[in-house]
Amino acid sequence: MVPPVPTSPYERQRRMSNDAVQLRSVTKTYGTGDRAVTALQEVSLTLPRGSFTAVMGPSGSGKSTLLQCAAGLDRADSGSVLLGDTELTGLSEKALTLLRRNRIGFVFQAFNLLPMLTAEQNVMLPLRLARRRPGRNEVREALDRVGLGDRAGHRPSELSGGQQQRVALARALITRPEVLFGDEPTGALDSTTGRQVLTLLRELTDREQQTVVMVTHDPVAASYADRAVFLADGRICGELLRPTAQDIAERMTKLEEAPC
Ligand SMILES: Nc1ncnc2c1ncn2[C@@H]1O[C@H](COP(=O)(O)OP(=O)(O)O)[C@@H](O)[C@H]1O
Ligand SMILES: [Mg+2]
Repeated sequence: MVPPVPTSPYERQRRMSNDAVQLRSVTKTYGTGDRAVTALQEVSLTLPRGSFTAVMGPSGSGKSTLLQCAAGLDRADSGSVLLGDTELTGLSEKALTLLRRNRIGFVFQAFNLLPMLTAEQNVMLPLRLARRRPGRNEVREALDRVGLGDRAGHRPSELSGGQQQRVALARALITRPEVLFGDEPTGALDSTTGRQVLTLLRELTDREQQTVVMVTHDPVAASYADRAVFLADGRICGELLRPTAQDIAERMTKLEEAPC
């Protein structure tokens, strides 16, 4: 059924506020001819606002591509990607750059901090790029949110891996993005520090209704999410709600034996 056209600004606002991201039948192919690889095939996925989603699947199943298309880091070949009510597929490069800068946060497996800058200066960088003057306490508050208020003056080399990833998180969150994307954000961390980062992501969702989507291949990491979505060969093939690590591990084993 086609939903009715919203009538009042309030109604539009209400409708807009439900989903942070929507992918509709997104297809993405790399290369051409014999060397063409279809990384995503008609993928449809909705991320409700304030939800924490884990994206799982075997290596090469399209997880990173999905995240990059959803975050405007890469373009879908066909289908539609919506961030809130903004359709990304038709945007110019300039508009996409602004959108990534102002509305999206991204963390990767590698922390990608600038080694010569302190934690505080690293966190401030996105504001400077957006030509926004940071509020007096804004950067400190961002570091406090990730539990690193007392490390503001440290350089990356003076911080542990877990602390560096938390600085990267504070940097991703400083612009108050609508969605925080993580591509294997705990992939380079040992299990104890990895869990601290995962607990933090969980708290951001619970306390601040931050929308989070994270790629991981670790069932324990995925069990911190509200939902685990499974990809195989560029297609979505199921999901688990409020999954336990054991449920996820079993599903992953099945996927590897017989992709959907
Ligand atoms: N830039 C690229 N050029 C060519 N092929 C790519 C590129 N990025 C990804 N691929 C291919 O697309 C498929 C999905 O990759 P990716 O999204 O990185 O998977 P995952 O993150 O699940 O390991 C793989 O077959 C991969 O080799
Ligand atoms: Mg990947």
